[in-house]
Order: sequence, then structure tokens, then C-alpha cells
Amino acid sequence: MITQTSIEALKATIDIVDIVGSYVDLRKSGSNFTACCPFHDEKTPSFMVNGSKGLYHCYGCGVGGDAIKFVMEYEKLNFVEAVEKIADLCNFTLEYEKNSIPKKDDFKSLEKVAKFYQKRLMELTEYRDYLYKRGVSTSSIEKFGLGFCGPSFETLRFVEQEGMDKKKLIELGVLGEDSARTYVRFAERIMFPIHSPAGKIVGFGGRTTKDNLPKYLNSPQTSQFNKSKLLYGYHIAKEYIYKYEQVIVTEGYLDVIMLHQAGFNTAVATLGTALTQDHLPILNKGNPKVILSYDGDAAGIKSAFRASAMLAKDSRAGGVVIFEGGLDPADMVFQKKTDELERLFSSPIPFVEFVFKQISLKYDLSDPLAKEKALKESSDFLHTLSPLLQEEYRDFVARILKIPLNLIVPSYKGSSKIYPKATTPLRNKTNSYDGLESLIIKYILEDKSLLDMAIEYIDERVFQYKRKEFCALCRGDFEDEGLIGIEINEELLLHKGGFKDELVMLILKYNQNQLEKIIADSDLNFQEKSFRIRQIKNNIIRLRKGELIGI
Ligand code: UTP
Ligand code: MN
Repeated sequence: MITQTSIEALKATIDIVDIVGSYVDLRKSGSNFTACCPFHDEKTPSFMVNGSKGLYHCYGCGVGGDAIKFVMEYEKLNFVEAVEKIADLCNFTLEYEKNSIPKKDDFKSLEKVAKFYQKRLMELTEYRDYLYKRGVSTSSIEKFGLGFCGPSFETLRFVEQEGMDKKKLIELGVLGEDSARTYVRFAERIMFPIHSPAGKIVGFGGRTTKDNLPKYLNSPQTSQFNKSKLLYGYHIAKEYIYKYEQVIVTEGYLDVIMLHQAGFNTAVATLGTALTQDHLPILNKGNPKVILSYDGDAAGIKSAFRASAMLAKDSRAGGVVIFEGGLDPADMVFQKKTDELERLFSSPIPFVEFVFKQISLKYDLSDPLAKEKALKESSDFLHTLSPLLQEEYRDFVARILKIPLNLIVPSYKGSSKIYPKATTPLRNKTNSYDGLESLIIKYILEDKSLLDMAIEYIDERVFQYKRKEFCALCRGDFEDEGLIGIEINEELLLHKGGFKDELVMLILKYNQNQLEKIIADSDLNFQEKSFRIRQIKNNIIRLRKGELIGI
């Protein structure tokens, strides 16, 4: 069991923006951060994180809580697992009650295995020579912790000697098993340990030295090792990424190593997957300019095209670098073309331009029908961009497709919304009554003594939209998800001494509603009806003058 003091200490150190930001792509919005909610499907962001209060809330689906709750929900972990995960993310050492057995540390087993592979590489000149021949220096071998995994029996013997848990190693992908035997997954491969952003080993990539297929083999997907979110080399590159506000994204492990070796220390690589939305949280940290530096072959250009379209849509700064002759970044360094790399990295082709250029290259523009297709594809892409970028790039599209400007029609024309992606997180803001109810609750949350005053005049019947939240407030259940949503809603502005006026307004609206109901009520007899109507109208007059009258 983790000690309570240690949990409290962890809570005091964690920054919810950092934690949530490592899972979702957070954008600053006022004093909050916002994103598309990871717990339900949506296109405009209604998920908010408030750093100073340490809380998150989604105005779309209603979820909310603190950083621990977020990790529990997102990773589907229990409380203890989530606390351990967060402690890991923040390099925080938890204390456990005596007599309780700390959980087996997955990272430590991978670390141990990686050390063994490194030792083997040092002992085997043949494989070290392979790396030297490819241009990798001794210091790069050390910096990236490269190793060698020999035939199965070597690793199995090591695992047994060390008394390591084979089941765990199977789960972690170090070992594999079939009906007949347990074997080593990466036999006869040069090993590239893959780290989490915090620098812990979470998996491996292994390159064959024998031309076996596949050329590269990766660890299987585990909860720590998610190929579509991690970037190879990030733990080493991150300080430079923040410093130079630039990140070079490549396709291969060797590209990263060779680029770092040549001094381009902001290089990272995807793990044999395409760059997708899932990479955005890590890629957005420090808001660097993104330079896509893929292989110069057809496959590389195609990947760069897709990634560019995604990044352009997100208005990300940066662009694409293409090497001639199908070379990849590792080849460029190997061929000592460092100056050319420097030149290319300093002026990449902006994403939007690259996408339009690639579209124009796909079609034979001397054929009017093909040209029409090019126009259609270009327009479709143009329409994914922000209105400002659509305006800026119309000319460009007209020029490269050689068509008149008036055929390039931006998609937002005629709409009053100039910025469809603008961060107005309160998508669900329904009407002023809803806002008013939230405002009353927020006043009380900020100054709990106001609750006594409130319940003298109102009860939950007054609340049409926030009744559940008001009841939670009366119960003192401050972890209620709806209440958290109100607490961190920055659009609800409080004014000193403003509570009474808002309360009057709420009671006024309640009376107006009641009036309508009574007028429409056919079950009441005439006398009763007119008495009630007079009574309510009287109340409304007094409330309009600012008098506080209970319901
Ligand atoms: P490349 O085939 O471009 O590899 O694949 P490379 O880095 O140029 O390798 P060398 O120079 O021949 O050693 C790029 C990346 O794609 C993934 C790996 O992550 C690799 O680094 N990949 C490639 C695989 O996952 N499996 C494969 O079979 C091949
Ligand atoms: Mn390559």
C-alpha cells in the first residue's frame, strides 16, 4: 500500500496540465487549456483543464475530476495503478507501507535486458563493426544504448541466471512463446532501446544483421509501449526541441542516430508507423516548428504528404524536406552532406505549399479533365484550412494549377463564423438561464457561506438545468463532475457583492416560469388561478425592484 502522505505529496507536486497534456493535445484558452474531449467523440473542443485548480471537465459529456481521476479513466487503471503511473511520469518516488510488496517494476526488467544486450554488443566485434560500417560512432552507440541480441539460448540463460519472471518478459515482448517453447523475440538483431519521454525503456526495435525479414522488428504493443504515440529519441531530443523550438521528424531509428551524430539534435522518429493525430500531444510540447524529413523515395513522399495535410489542418508551423536520389537522412549524414542538410532544414517547404504541389504533380495539367480533378482535390484540402490560410493560399493554388482565381472558392464564405476552429469551449452554452444557474453555484463554490443565504430563499426546484449540481452542492459533494465543470468555467465571471443580484434574477426567472405554467394550467379553477397570478405578478414587481423574496 502506498502511504497516504506520499499520495498527498504527489498530489501537491503534479501539474494537471502536464499530465493531461501528455495524453491529449491541449491548447491554451484564456487561463484554461482546452482540447477535443478524449472521452467522447467531438469535433469542436469542449474539454477544459484548469491548471490552478488542478481539475478537468468536459462540457460535452460531463466527465471531470483531478489528474489522478483523468489517468484512471483514460488508461482504465484503478486508483493505485494511476497513482503509480503519475509518479513514474513525474519521476516521483512513492513510499509504501512496510510489509507491502512493491509492484514488479517493468521498466527495471527492460533496463536489465537492455544492459545485457549492450554488453553483448561490446563483446562481439563483428556486430560492432556492422554499426561502424554504417557510420555509427562509439559515442552514438553509448548515447542511444544500442545492443545486440544473440541466439535465443544466450538471453534465456541470462534470464534464468538473474531469476527474472519469464511470464512478465513474454508480456513485455522480450520473450515469445508458442506451444512448443519459449524463445527470444529479437534473436540475431541489433537492438535499439525505445524510451518513454521521461527516459525509461518501454520497448525495443531490432534490426536484422542477416537480411531476415522483417528488416526491423518492434516490441509488441503494451500499456507502456504505444507505437502510435511514442517517438524514438524523444527523451534525448526534448531539451533541444524546447530550446530551439524545432523538431525534426524522421522515419527510422538510424536516421535519428545519424542526425544527432551530425549535430541535428532535435531529431526523432516514428516507430515504423505513420505520423498521426495520436502523435500530436507529444509533438506539440513546447510548440516546436515541425520539420518532416522522410526518405526521398515514393513511399517517403507519400507519408510526408499525409502528415503535412494533417499538420496544415492544425495550422502547425513547419514544413517538409526531401532528399534527392531517394536518400534518407542517415544516408545524407553518411555521405557527409551536412551542409546541405543544414541548408534544407533551415528552409523546409511549408506544409500547405507541399500538399498543393504534390496534388498538382499527381495530375497532367495539360488535360482539362485531369486539371478539374486537381482543382477538386486542391479545393477539398483548402477547405480543411483555417479561413485565414484559405485566403492566403488561394493565389498560390491558382498559380500552380494555372487557373483563374475566381474558381478557387474558400469554404467559409457566407458564414458569419470567421474562425470555425476558434476555441469557444462552451459549445453547450444553451441560454442565459442555464448560465445564471451556473453562476449562482459558482458564487457559492467560491464562498461557501453564501449557501446559507441561498437556502433561505430557494431550493432545488428553482434549478432547471443545474438541479443535480445544486443538490451536490447542498450535500457538500464537491467531487461531483458537474460541479467541477462549473468551478473551472472561466466564462462565469463573479463580481464582488454580485451574488444577491444574481439570486434575485434567478428567483425572478423562476416566478416568470411559474406564471406561464399557471396561466397554461387547465386544472386550476378560475378563482385559484387569478389569486395565484396576482400573487406572482406582485412578486415579480418587487423582484424587479431588487427585493429578495423567497419562493
Ligand atoms: P527503412 O526501411 O527506411 O529503414 O524503415 P532504415 O532506417 O533506412 O534502415 P536501414 O538504413 O536499412 O537500417 C524506416 C523505419 O521503418 C520501420 C523502422 O522503424 C525503421 O526504422 N520499419 C522498417 C519496420 O518497423 N519494419 C520493417 O521491416 C522496416
Ligand atoms: Mn530509411
